[in-house]
Amino acid sequence: MNTATMSTSTAPQRAASAKPKSLLLHPAAKVILFAICLLPFAWMFYAAYANALGANPAEALIRKTGDWTLRFLCITLAVTPLRTWIKQPSLARFRRMLGLFSFFYVVLHFLSYAWLDMGFDIDAIVKDIPKRPFALVGFLALLLMIPLAATSFNRAIKALGAKRWQALHKSVYAIVLLGLLHFFWMKAAKNNFGEVAIYAVVIAVLLGWRVRQRFITKRAVAVPAR
Ligand code: HEM
Repeated sequence: MNTATMSTSTAPQRAASAKPKSLLLHPAAKVILFAICLLPFAWMFYAAYANALGANPAEALIRKTGDWTLRFLCITLAVTPLRTWIKQPSLARFRRMLGLFSFFYVVLHFLSYAWLDMGFDIDAIVKDIPKRPFALVGFLALLLMIPLAATSFNRAIKALGAKRWQALHKSVYAIVLLGLLHFFWMKAAKNNFGEVAIYAVVIAVLLGWRVRQRFITKRAVAVPAR
């Protein structure tokens, strides 16, 4: 073996040049995030138990679960721009969990509606959803979320292949827009657009960032650096 090519750095030099390991890579980071994501659920559960949901607990639960669905969708979409912005690629390891929490909250939202509003009367639900366009749009978003949740596991990614999996998961953009339309439609009946406008701006920034990135990548491919 040619010893001249071997590293001659000492242990203290190696320790000094070693990059600090990101806290995001700590095994406890995912457990902590999981617990944080469960907090809205824990709060709603406690508030329902303690009779602290206000005059109309059913409406409060439907609305709070709806709000958290939209918030988690936005948080999931924020992971990629944020990880690029703060140069922390390891943030990507939390995206799947956040996406699955969006699904968890939309299932709770739908169950709250089906149980507290409709008394689990399947016939009434089947008639009610198409009658109310805002509910139909929400239901469509829920249907689109099912394949994403079902294919969020490593075996499904392997079975589908990375390209097809990525193409399927692009429907998250349609889902968040349908969620926003659902919210807008519901609030339009009350002429109350303040909150909807905030979500619209957040979603426009998150999707606009992606459009810009695509444009930059396309231009870089068309005009290769000399
Ligand atoms: C991705 C899917 C969905 C998202 C993001 C979503 C989001 C929301 C949001 C943000 C609200 C308003 C909460 C507030 O007033 O603060 C809401 C209300 C509501 N959503 Fe959804 N939702 C979705 C799917 C569904 C589905 C599948 C149904 C049932 C078919 C549904 C039924 C309702 C109902 C009944 C309300 C309350 C309307 C009212 O109080 O007048 N949503 N949803």
